[in-house]
Amino acid sequence: MTANVQNRLIDGGVGGYQPPPDARPLVQATDLWTEFGAGESRFAVHQDLNLDVYPGEILTLVGGSGTGKTVLLRQILGLLSPSRGTVSISGRPSREAINGELAASRVGMLFQQGALYSAFNVLDNIAFALREQGTLPDSVVRDAAMVKLQMAGLKPEHATRMPADLSGGMIKRVALARSLVMDPPLLLLDEPTAGLDPQGSDEFCDLLREVHGELGLTVIMVTHDLDTLFALSTRVAVLAEKKVLVTGAPRDVAQAKHPFIEHFFQGERGRRAMTPVQGGQAAEES
Ligand SMILES: Nc1ncnc2c1ncn2[C@@H]1O[C@H](COP(=O)(O)OP(=O)(O)OP(=O)(O)O)[C@@H](O)[C@H]1O
Ligand SMILES: [Mg+2]
Repeated sequence: MTANVQNRLIDGGVGGYQPPPDARPLVQATDLWTEFGAGESRFAVHQDLNLDVYPGEILTLVGGSGTGKTVLLRQILGLLSPSRGTVSISGRPSREAINGELAASRVGMLFQQGALYSAFNVLDNIAFALREQGTLPDSVVRDAAMVKLQMAGLKPEHATRMPADLSGGMIKRVALARSLVMDPPLLLLDEPTAGLDPQGSDEFCDLLREVHGELGLTVIMVTHDLDTLFALSTRVAVLAEKKVLVTGAPRDVAQAKHPFIEHFFQGERGRRAMTPVQGGQAAEES
């Protein structure tokens, strides 16, 4: 196993997450460079970025806008090629995975812009990847999509609705069901609760927690929302300066000394999201 030495794993502390000593990463980015543009306008988004994600984790990626969080998810999904370094899933380059057997059976993705196919109803959106595969009779495809629809907290009568007639929370649920239709072991979530009101966001976090437990998924999530981060993450990775600067349990990372981390976790929103955690810690310490 390659040691990602420059990730500063903040260990210890209440709730500190340590992967099992013999665990092998499911996802591994090693010395990753992502560059865009050509000639003088060429620029790097990631430089020597290292990240290991272990089976069963919910790892949350945070970082300022434009620091390359979505680009990193696209690298993991195999939609982009590293300029240098490697990104692998179960030891195989993620690019190779997407070119090999069906990508949707290896990785599910909830995109930041979570768009559904507007011309398809809910069930046909969910069934899309399974139907594209072309190996199963339509009745089996529909049954499998119906199972995922209900797993995502939707009702059978929602199956024939069109995307334009859904609420924001329902669109997220359909997008989640669609990303899970092939039972991938790995789920990537880009801002899953963005645009939801606090109640919708709490409900979607509960759903993600349930689905994670029921399906034994590994999840990599990008979020700016601290309530979502503290509700779900086993570990947090901070993207800054073109690398993963810090990884660790949420409340440990929140204490790290770095301008972005201080601004992100210790601003007004951060204090509010951390209140129950700090209360719990104080109770344990007293
Ligand atoms: N295909 C592309 N071609 C050129 N530049 C790109 C491409 N995709 C992303 N970028 C650039 O890479 C940088 C990182 O983009 P990315 O979408 O990963 O940011 P982010 O961290 O997800 O930001 P946000 O929090 O706002 O979603 C940005 O400067 C973006 O403009
Ligand atoms: Mg993004």
